[in-house]
Amino acid sequence: MTQDDLKKAVAQAAFKRIEPHLHEDSVIGVGTGSTANVFIEYLAEAKHLVTSTVASSEETARRLKEHGIPVYDLNSVDEVTVYIDGADEANEYLQLIKGGGAALTREKIIAAVAKEFICIADESKFVTVLGNFPLPVEVIPMARSHVGRQIVKLGGDPVYREGVLTDNGNVIIDIYNMSITDPRKLENDLNQIVGVVTNGLFAQRPADILLLGKADGVVEITSS
Ligand code: 5RP
Repeated sequence: MTQDDLKKAVAQAAFKRIEPHLHEDSVIGVGTGSTANVFIEYLAEAKHLVTSTVASSEETARRLKEHGIPVYDLNSVDEVTVYIDGADEANEYLQLIKGGGAALTREKIIAAVAKEFICIADESKFVTVLGNFPLPVEVIPMARSHVGRQIVKLGGDPVYREGVLTDNGNVIIDIYNMSITDPRKLENDLNQIVGVVTNGLFAQRPADILLLGKADGVVEITSS
């Protein structure tokens, strides 16, 4: 099975899980990235049933609209019934690293609002300790050097992601070489640095369900 097959399998499993909600006028939160894009394809097949979505990036909003699926501003909906998104890394506690696609802030906002957050990923994303994947941090442009220096003090190697501006007009610093043994603390510490918008650790608000694509099928891991 290729990685694309695994992405298809988890996207389909997520679609099956949310399908009953489609008959209840629910708001579906839709994430960003290649796995979320496959989920959008499943959603598009049932677009006559999808009345409201919120998107975690301009790119996702564009894809949804291209299929004729209604996309709303988060401020104009009362709640998000369920949020489906991928991840760059996930651990057994369903804490995640996200933001490989630079959409971390909007992703974190939708995750915060969502009643249920279902993460979809192939098994290569499942790790014992988070941090092999460089941790993205969204930063106000004028604070880039300051934030970089503070990250060094926390023990990480900051690398400016050249040529990338987020949907919010900010820059991304990726933190390399950090073994993240206390994700909740690091998420908090990074967010205390002046100039940081947010970081890609989803530890305070982990996923509720992780659908993990393996060669022998999709495994469902729930937070205990
Ligand atoms: C985007 C994200 C994505 O969910 C993450 O990068 C995983 O992407 P993919 O499904 O392409 O592996 O956080 O900001």
